[in-house]
Amino acid sequence: MRTTTELMLNALRARTVIPGFNIGYVPMMQPVIHALRDMRCFGLVMVARLEWTKFEAKSLRAIRQEYERVKDERYTRLHLDHVPVIDEDNLQVDYQAILGEAVELGYDSIMIDGSRLALAENIAATRGIVEMAHRAGAAVEAELGAVMGHEAGPLPPYEELFASGKGFTDPDEARRFVEQTGVDWLSIAIGSIHGAIVPGKKDQEKIQARLNIDHLKKIHQAVHIPLVLHGGTGIPGSYILQSIREGIAKINIATAIRQPFERLRSQSLVKALDAVYDTTVSLINELDVRRSAAIIDPEEP
Ligand code: 13P
Repeated sequence: MRTTTELMLNALRARTVIPGFNIGYVPMMQPVIHALRDMRCFGLVMVARLEWTKFEAKSLRAIRQEYERVKDERYTRLHLDHVPVIDEDNLQVDYQAILGEAVELGYDSIMIDGSRLALAENIAATRGIVEMAHRAGAAVEAELGAVMGHEAGPLPPYEELFASGKGFTDPDEARRFVEQTGVDWLSIAIGSIHGAIVPGKKDQEKIQARLNIDHLKKIHQAVHIPLVLHGGTGIPGSYILQSIREGIAKINIATAIRQPFERLRSQSLVKALDAVYDTTVSLINELDVRRSAAIIDPEEP
């Protein structure tokens, strides 16, 4: 079986992308996997820490068990998304314990998010996790720069953020970060933001973020590992397709499949799950799905 590391490198080489879908509620996993299978699209099934603390993903173990029940290894692998060192509420997290548990449970890849730390501290924390995970054969994603949106407080106006480039990943820092940590993939800030997760805001329509493609090119020239785009909901398709040509090999999507599930689940679980399936299919269609074949089998013409 090909490792997620190999599959991500295949995606980067083929200039295509691996979509990662966040499972905020355990039952959402099955329709996501069925959509990937039916579309013959390779993707990651993901859970982030905030999805069991703030939504109903339950636990690392519950997600692992559900994955075992419904997985399709031709088209899927299991990824642990955002385990922050300092979380969105500014609390310290026992990130080493959580990431260690995920590796023991057999998650194929994990993400440490030290983006709220200073550069040197982010490097030190990430390097420690890379050493631990690589010993067990798991891949590691880390984040550099500030992909905002999960915090409870008000965001600065989006246009102001985008125009100033505040929080964008610095290409020279990215080079140093990758060299000194040995991380496999890097989540970068180039204009996208996460969908809100706080009550009162989490049900609202997400603003349409944009991407600074010139800035992405500079990062991609500085580092040669697969780059990851977080905050994938609501970015116009033309930006997504350009970003895939310039080094984005994985795109994370949460809000777009969570909101229809939450809207419909009190009415009917079947309708809510159908909505997850349909939304996943249409999101996959917006990516260039035909090229997904080059991820699974790069020898195929
Ligand atoms: P969205 O909620 O904007 O899709 O972002 C998801 C994400 O980046 C999870 O890591």
